[in-house]
This record gives sequence, C-alpha cells and structure tokens, in this order.
Amino acid sequence: MRSSVVLTLASLLSSALAIPADSSLSKPTGDEPTLLPVKFIDGVPESIFNATSLGIDVFGPVPNDAIRNKDGSVTAPEGSKSNAWLRAQADLGIYSEQLAARGIDVSDKLSKRQGWANIRLTMWAQSNCGGQGVYWDNVEYGVSYYATTNYYAVSTTYRGLAPGERLEFRRLSGSDWCGIHHTNAFGPQNAGCYGNVPATNCLRLYI
Ligand SMILES: *[C@@H]1O[C@H](CO)[C@@H](O)[C@H](O)[C@H]1NC(C)=O
Repeated sequence: MRSSVVLTLASLLSSALAIPADSSLSKPTGDEPTLLPVKFIDGVPESIFNATSLGIDVFGPVPNDAIRNKDGSVTAPEGSKSNAWLRAQADLGIYSEQLAARGIDVSDKLSKRQGWANIRLTMWAQSNCGGQGVYWDNVEYGVSYYATTNYYAVSTTYRGLAPGERLEFRRLSGSDWCGIHHTNAFGPQNAGCYGNVPATNCLRLYI
C-alpha cells in the first residue's frame, strides 16, 4: 500500500519541510488544467453507467474494498469496486443537476452522506481519472494534501471550485512533496475531472 499523508497547518509550521507562508503566491510554471467533458451513455455519465453495471450504488457509501489510511485519506485500488465508485463520484454533481432538471431530486440522498457540505479532492494515478485513486473528504483551506507517488489527474466532488477559490497543483522538489507549484485551477468551476495534469503529489485549496 502506498502511503499518503495529510499535513495540518500546525505541523506545517513546525515541520522541517515547512513551506514558506507566501509560497501560495508563487507563480505556477504550467498551464491551467481543464475539466474533462463528461461522456453520457443512455443519459447517464459513463462512469456512473460503469459503476452501476457492477452493482454499485453510486449514491451509497464507498464499497468496503477501499483502504482507509491513517491520515484520513482513502485509497481505491485500480480495478476495485471502490475505484469504480470513486470514478463515478467525479461525475455525480453534473448527474444530480441533470436529474434535478428532470424533476428527480437526489439532494436529500446525497446530503445524508458525510462530507457533503465540503469538497472532496481525489488524485488519480492515470490521466482521465483512471488507475488508483486516493481521496480526502472535508478538505480545509491552506492545508497540504499529499501522497508520495505521482498522480496525473485530479477530481473535485460534491461541488466544484467556488468563486474566489484556487486549487494549487504541486509536486515533489527535493524532500518537499509540495515544493514545486506547477499550476492552479480557479473557481467558479463545476465539479469534475481535471483529466490531464503534470505529475502531481500535492494539492492545496485557498480562498
Ligand atoms: C467505463 O468502462 C469502459 C469499459 O471497461 C472503459 O473503457 C471506460 O474507460 C470506463 N469509463 C470511465 C469513465 O471510467
């Protein structure tokens, strides 16, 4: 199992890997990532179609083949049920809106799930939100969420980036898993999958 670590702000300040407070103002080196268009099959996003075909309730909790890490993050191994569930979560926002437009309101079902009020961040081992996924719920501002392996796509779930919010994409430099700031995504933006980002180890959300 690959490890992932959440550094709280408090530990950042006291850590040997402390990131200067003004690093969030650094100029990113790469282009802004873009959201992947969602492909629909029979009026359902492909990821939800896929998960449902496997008997997974995409509105239910994460299937129990997920790995709960000590830092509170959850890993969904490639090919697992939890992985299909997690991929579907990236498109749940747009699907909920579509259902609402058809008069089917799923907000009650979703609001019962822990973390609904906040944003979930997921990093994916392969582009287009494929391969192993690792996610953090109840993400806080100004905290580094990082994993010690390279990820090439990122998704936001429950909600997209709000106006004024900025999501920083970072990667390893020396011994600092968040040392290079390569790009930003700026709100307002829908929830979804940033399908193609340069090697990323670390995410930070700011407002
Ligand atoms: C859905 O499943 C097909 C067939 O396995 C796969 O090619 C496709 O990438 C999957 N789609 C998503 C969005 O995961």
